[in-house]
Amino acid sequence: MLVLGIETSCDETAVALVEDGKRIRANVIASQAELHAHWGGVVPELAARHHLEAILPVIEKALDDAALSANQLDLIAVTAGPGLAGALLVGLNAARALSYAWDVPLIGINHLEAHVYANWLDDAGDESPSLPAVCLIVSGAHSDLALMDRDRAFSRLGRTLDDAAGEAFDKVARLLGLGFPGGPAIEKVAQGAGIAELPDLPRAWLEGSDDFSFSGLKTEMLKQVRSSNLTQQRVRDLASAFQESVADVLSAKAARAARRLDARSVLLAGGVAANRRLRDLLQQRSPVGLRVPPISLCTDNAAMVGAAAFYRWQDGDRATLALDIDPGLALGSRPAA
Ligand code: KG4
Ligand code: ZN
Repeated sequence: MLVLGIETSCDETAVALVEDGKRIRANVIASQAELHAHWGGVVPELAARHHLEAILPVIEKALDDAALSANQLDLIAVTAGPGLAGALLVGLNAARALSYAWDVPLIGINHLEAHVYANWLDDAGDESPSLPAVCLIVSGAHSDLALMDRDRAFSRLGRTLDDAAGEAFDKVARLLGLGFPGGPAIEKVAQGAGIAELPDLPRAWLEGSDDFSFSGLKTEMLKQVRSSNLTQQRVRDLASAFQESVADVLSAKAARAARRLDARSVLLAGGVAANRRLRDLLQQRSPVGLRVPPISLCTDNAAMVGAAAFYRWQDGDRATLALDIDPGLALGSRPAA
């Protein structure tokens, strides 16, 4: 089954061609990161306008890259939410128009579930992950801990009570005078800092719950920055201590949930899953096999949308041309078709 996946929920215009939920035939991403870096964060109106300019060329490039044509497609899959409304609308309307014009079935995909399905792509491993799985989905807008059961149904165990992990990385990077997006910038400067001498930063364990909180850590970072002479070394140590605090809590809580629920695997997903310290700590702590997509498939892409669509189609999901966006779509909810 050949799926054309379309993803425009935030600041990447992404289109991919994926075969049988596994094999990537094309994976094109037009990133707007540089544009938004100028403003220190994603500007929704600018994102929508740039998606509009990029979407058709990116679709054409994906088909060209794979040397495939529209009449070979079996399904068009598009992210329907969660995400920025104006941005989502561009991908969704392109998908609806092409579904109608090319007479190819349509399916709406939940962006958070798509991140998890990046772990089903060939590039993430030979075999499909074992279920039930505990999923840690950490991105710029979300930090969720979820259980994916044997029937591939998601239920949320916990979420962030304030900032998403990626959002915290982005805000702290700004405090430290580092670039946007903040995650990769913090990871880069943190390299080479020795863990033993780092400032001790708070960790919100929220015992007895699977929720997260990063606002106390962020406030402490602000205090540290205000009271420090921000030398290069101090920035490195603060960045590293911050990364350590976030990775410590996320990995410990995911591992604990996996043990408690007798999960057969742990799946890491979302932009923050690109963080090597988080990957390493979770690898050390997980009581069962850990799956993490390759770094290029952790941040927003459409290959993950194509993978999710294959399984959702098998599970009976269908959409009509009335498919609409749902900017607040929760994990475990399907887009209204
Ligand atoms: O999943 P994603 O591409 O977009 C959303 O759906 O939000 O995630 C983007 C987020 C940003 O906050 C970015 O700073 C973070 O992922 N991120 C990272 C790393 N790479 C991206 N955070 C920590 N370490 C990284 N290496
Ligand atoms: Zn995302």
